[in-house]
Amino acid sequence: MTDAPGRILILIKPDAVQRRLTGEILRRIEAKGYDIIALDRLIATPDLLAEHYAEHVDKPFYPSIVEYMTSGPVVSVVVEGHRVVEGLRSLIGSTEPTAAAPGTIRGDLGRDWGGSAMMNLVHGSDSPQSAEREIAIWFPHLAR
Ligand code: RTP
Ligand code: MG
Repeated sequence: MTDAPGRILILIKPDAVQRRLTGEILRRIEAKGYDIIALDRLIATPDLLAEHYAEHVDKPFYPSIVEYMTSGPVVSVVVEGHRVVEGLRSLIGSTEPTAAAPGTIRGDLGRDWGGSAMMNLVHGSDSPQSAEREIAIWFPHLAR
């Protein structure tokens, strides 16, 4: 018997949507071989972000995250496949886009634009447990 495939929540952040990179990012996810099983486009509310970023709400940079993440629409995506959290964290690259490795989404498509928020194009859940918590926030009908 094989295990159930893993899931991850990806957010295509407002900078990526505004720069018309949604298709390029989805293309890279599909080209690596994973399945896009749910997709939406919305303007995030501060309440939704406070739930999503529960671990960051008390940090000094949190207000700049909210300003950045509500600056335009985000595209929320659930992606499925064996070891998808590992695979997509690797594909996305490290948090800071200037230093992210070439070949990754952040390394190839991102840079420091000099603002107060770190604009890094995408979010990806950092563990299978985080993925299930975040999927329940953004796609309640897919909660397990
Ligand atoms: P993400 O959660 O968005 O996939 O990114 P990550 O795991 O690579 O980064 P994380 O440490 O979870 O931080 C969440 C988001 O907060 C913003 N951030 N700003 N100014 C700062 O020092 C700072 N640190 C983090 C970024 O937008 C980051 O993606
Ligand atoms: Mg994170």
